[in-house]
Amino acid sequence: MKISTSMFRSAYVVASHSALPPVGAVGKFLPFSKSVAVIGSVPGQGRCCCFRSSSPYVVLEDRSYGNKQVISITPQLYDYILSNVREPEILRQLREETASMRGSQMQVSPDQAQLLAMLVQILGAERCIEVGVYTGYSSLAIALALPESGCLVACERDAKSLEVAKKYYELAGVSRKVSVRHGLALDTLHSLILNGETCSYDFAFVDAEKRMNEEYFELLMQLVRVGGVIVIDNVLWHGKVADPMVNDKKTISIRNFNRRLMEDDRISTSMVPIGDGILICRKR
Ligand SMILES: C[S@@+](CC[C@H](N)C(=O)[O-])C[C@H]1O[C@@H](n2cnc3c(N)ncnc32)[C@H](O)[C@@H]1O
Repeated sequence: MKISTSMFRSAYVVASHSALPPVGAVGKFLPFSKSVAVIGSVPGQGRCCCFRSSSPYVVLEDRSYGNKQVISITPQLYDYILSNVREPEILRQLREETASMRGSQMQVSPDQAQLLAMLVQILGAERCIEVGVYTGYSSLAIALALPESGCLVACERDAKSLEVAKKYYELAGVSRKVSVRHGLALDTLHSLILNGETCSYDFAFVDAEKRMNEEYFELLMQLVRVGGVIVIDNVLWHGKVADPMVNDKKTISIRNFNRRLMEDDRISTSMVPIGDGILICRKR
């Protein structure tokens, strides 16, 4: 079955705003004859940018970037991207069952899950951790990508959603690869460290309480080996991180966390505008 944008959460922060300024550009929006220019600043960076384009797809066309055209996502383009996702049948079933549940918008999008699975494969990961399982969509994608000898520590505090996840691990035949830890993720991560498992994990995905990201990250930095990868979800926070008018506690904490990781010499990073934005961190 074809996946389409209407089937799950609005994954792209700018999906329905193709004629609006791009994420990261905040300020005046000036119409030209057939083109559009946006002048604004990037919060926390005091940097001014100028964007000018004849297409609502193009969000950056600036001489200082060599006139490189950077495009945004429209619903039509996102449908096209989804039509190029190879979503395993079992993940489709889980996504559709979750769609009728409370909190279904929390699932990662199929294109995000596919990227996580690919990172696991590129790394040749054997040992993974997920913080925030919900009904298991991203963890199942990771588990499916692991070799038979692989292991995923899946941390989740909500027993009810874990029941759905465990059912799908069984159906997909990956149960023996997944070590489900029901409880607070911080407790689980501390217990892994106490158990002498530092520097033994290859990959971690963080998708739980956003204001705890700093704590999760520091513990995961102890658990992941050099060359290992930690992926943080929701770093664009529906575009709010780039909007200086939005200053609620959660947005500020995500903004500060992003800035801190940007300045963290222990990692290399790449911010990727997929889903609600992910930050890929590689431990140096
Ligand atoms: C955004 S959802 C995870 C979505 C999941 N990655 C997916 O793709 O389906 C966040 C989950 O984190 C869980 N969570 C939040 N805080 C937690 C904590 N301190 N410890 C464990 N789980 C937590 C929530 O119960 C929720 O199920």
